[in-house]
Formats: sequence, structure tokens, C-alpha cells
Amino acid sequence: MRKLLIIDDERAICSSLGFALGKDYAVSTAVNLLEVNHHIENDFFDLILLDLKFGEVSGIDLLEQIGSRAPESIVVMMTAHGTIQTSIEAMKKGAYDYIMKPLEISQLRALLGKALEYKLLKEKIDYLQNEVQRRYSIGGIIGNSKKMRDVFELIQKVKDVDVNIILQGPSGTGKELVAKAIHYEGNRSLARFEAVNCGAIPENLMESELFGYEKGAFTSAGSKKKGKFELAHKGTIFLDEITELALPLQVKLLRAIQQREITPLGSEEVRAVDVRIIAATNKDLKKEVEKGHFREDLYFRLNVISIELPGLEQRKEDIPLLTRHFIDKCNKRIGKSIKGITREALLALEAYDYPGNVRELENILERAAALTDHSFIELDDLPGDISRLVPGKNLLETHNIIPVKLGHSLDDITRLVILKTLEAMEGNRRKTAEVLGISERNLRYKLKEYGEC
Ligand SMILES: Nc1ncnc2c1ncn2[C@@H]1O[C@H](COP(=O)(O)OP(=O)(O)OP(=O)(O)O)[C@@H](O)[C@H]1O
Ligand SMILES: [Mg+2]
Repeated sequence: MRKLLIIDDERAICSSLGFALGKDYAVSTAVNLLEVNHHIENDFFDLILLDLKFGEVSGIDLLEQIGSRAPESIVVMMTAHGTIQTSIEAMKKGAYDYIMKPLEISQLRALLGKALEYKLLKEKIDYLQNEVQRRYSIGGIIGNSKKMRDVFELIQKVKDVDVNIILQGPSGTGKELVAKAIHYEGNRSLARFEAVNCGAIPENLMESELFGYEKGAFTSAGSKKKGKFELAHKGTIFLDEITELALPLQVKLLRAIQQREITPLGSEEVRAVDVRIIAATNKDLKKEVEKGHFREDLYFRLNVISIELPGLEQRKEDIPLLTRHFIDKCNKRIGKSIKGITREALLALEAYDYPGNVRELENILERAAALTDHSFIELDDLPGDISRLVPGKNLLETHNIIPVKLGHSLDDITRLVILKTLEAMEGNRRKTAEVLGISERNLRYKLKEYGEC
């Protein structure tokens, strides 16, 4: 049974309404602030029926409090004659509707019924939004391209299996994000995730960074220190830029992996460690092995599973979803309320090739979000070399030709043709579908897939 809270300072009204509505709802009542607080803190209500004049307290103030403390509840105001203006203000502040006193029970029943229907719809939308988010993201990694969906599937498959993993892909493609997703989504998530950037730590400090040291192990070792392997015991160690690890350390790492134990510097004692290793590189690890820069035996130990993160240029269909994600992220971080991006600016973003991959797209949007004065990011908010790419301004395009670069996938081309045709038909979907020779339904489906509606 759905829950209803009636807030009115007249006890008689509370009890008669409670009696009248008790068959349809699980009713609670509150006649003073103490009771209101008690109910809101201890329970969830689907519906709240709130008196606009609640003793000395203004119903509007109470409505605002409910809005932030019980945002899941739908509020219907009860109002006396002459306070219609305030009721309208209440609706602007988030009340669903209002009803005049004296109350007509059948009318109230109908209104609550409608409010509940609205609430159910809202719940369904929230659920579906979550589903979409879940389908297109794991641990904050966004993408709906086939390539990224394959990556998500692989993450799901390996997250609970104790195997070492190599992540390969160009800079800025999300390798660290994937490493964290595997750790935090998997069964090692209660232990630590320790990251070591093999390229950033000088060779002579690397051994103690990984394996720790005892007091007095070297001149400056004033006290003992645990290495990353011990810190990550039962958890995950992320070895970033693994190819930068010096050859002598590769030998020590291999030994630690094979024997599942480490010896801190200056110690006689070996310690058992249980860590999962995720290594990452933006180089071709196999080539590094061929060149003699990386030990083959270590390569085989680490490379039980390899996950390739494709460059953004190869999955441009992810750009709308990523753009949405980064705009939301910027809004939260810098306290703006940018609603989205114009179609023209999005087309420009899609025409660019991103040598810095997702990190570069994120930076571009961060800059645009910080600088823009508009509620939508516009072409002018993008860096010059990108805004110039806007296909509409391209010479070929003015002759109704859509340029297709060698290397575009068929999916990319389909998408380009659909969006450009829609633009040429000035957004008219029926005409667009006709020109493309597909059904309107099919067109709608495609546009939805591209995040266009
Ligand atoms: N698919 C994605 N969804 C959301 N954010 C992403 C995605 N891929 C990358 N990012 C963001 O881009 C930035 C770079 O990602 P990350 O550090 O994981 O890349 P990387 O592959 O480790 O790069 P590098 O090789 O330069 O270390 C981060 O801010 C990350 O949050
Ligand atoms: Mg990285």
C-alpha cells in the first residue's frame, strides 16, 4: 500500500481524512512540527497532503524543507479561500497541485489518484534512466559504441577472476578508469587499490616503492615503510606505464608475482602477498618485448587478459554521450547549470580527431563550460581549430556533398548521413525518413541511439 502523510494543525481534519483515505493509503498524520520531523526522518512517503497555513509556520517554508528532505514525495497543498495566489507560488516551488478547503472527499481522492500516477511515472523514468546509465557505463566509464560495450563485457567477465590484466591503448582513453572499475566492481574492492606510475619514480627508488624497506636499510631510512605490494594485500596494484620499469626491476617484479611473496629492502624476512596486478601502457607491449625493452617472461605473466582501449577517433559515436556526461560533471564541479550543447557545436566536436582522446574532449568541454555565457555550449565556445571544422561550413557540404574520410566505419557513415539529412530537411523527420528510404520509426530509433532526442 502506498504511503500518505497528512500535515494539518487541526487534529479533527487529520483524523477525518485519515478515516476517509485509510482504505486506499497507509495514512500517517502530523499536527505539529515535531511530528512532521519525526515522520519525515523515519519514513518515506509517496504522497504528502500539506496545509498551506500550518499553525504559525508557512506551508511554503515547510514545502521547501520537504523538497530537500523528502524529495521522493509528491506534495499536494490544501488551501483556504483567498490564498490561491500562495498556492500558485507553492506549485512553482514544487508542489504537484492544490485543493480548496472545505475539502470535497471525492475530489480529493481523484486528485491524490492523479498525483500517485505521476509519482509512479516518475519512478519508472528514474528506473529507466538508471538502466540506461548502467548499460552504458561501469564505474563512471561512459560509452555506447560497440567497442566500448565489448570493453564493459570484458570487465564484467574478469572483475572477480584472479588473473593479471594488461590494459593497452593510447593516452587519455581511460586505462586508469578501467583499472579502478575492475577493482571497485570486483571482489577485491574492500582492500586497497594502489597505483604506481612506473614512469614517474626514479629507478633507484622504485624497489622500495614496490616492496618497502626496513629501518636502516639505507642512510635516509629512519623508519620502516611498507611498499605498494603490502599495502595492496588482498587488493589490486595498478602498474601504470609498465614499459618504463627498468629491466632489473622487471626481474624482481616477476619473482614477486611468481612466488607471491616480497622481501622489503634491508630485511631478511620474506612476506606473503596476495595482489592482483593490472598493468597499463600506451605502447605496443609486444613490440617492446621484440626490441628487448621488456622481458618476455614478465610479459606472459602479466598478459593473461589483455584489454584494448580504442582511441576516441575510432568510436566517435560515443561523443554525444561523453559530452552529456562531462557537461553534467562540470555543472556539478563549477556550480553552473549548462543545459547541453548546440547541434552545430556537437557536429564540430564529432569532426575533430582527438590525439589526446577522451581526456582532450573532457578538457575542451571543461574550458567551454567555464567560459560560456549561454545555457547551451555553442560553436564559439569551442577552440578555433575545432569550431572551424563544423561540417556545415565546409565547402563540399555547401554543394550537398557529405565528405567521408577513409577509415570511417560504416556505423560512422550511417550516422553522418542520417544527421546531415535531418539537418538539410530542417529537422522534419517525416521528410528525412522519406529521403533516406527508412521508416520514421526506424529513424526515431536511430536518433535516440545517437542521443539526438
Ligand atoms: N569512457 C570514459 N568515460 C568517462 N570518462 C573518461 C572515459 N575515458 C576517459 N575518461 C576521462 O578522461 C581522463 C583520462 O582518463 P585516464 O586517466 O583513465 O586515461 P589513461 O588511458 O590512463 O591515460 P594516460 O595513458 O595518459 O595515463 C580522465 O579524467 C577520465 O575520467
Ligand atoms: Mg593513465
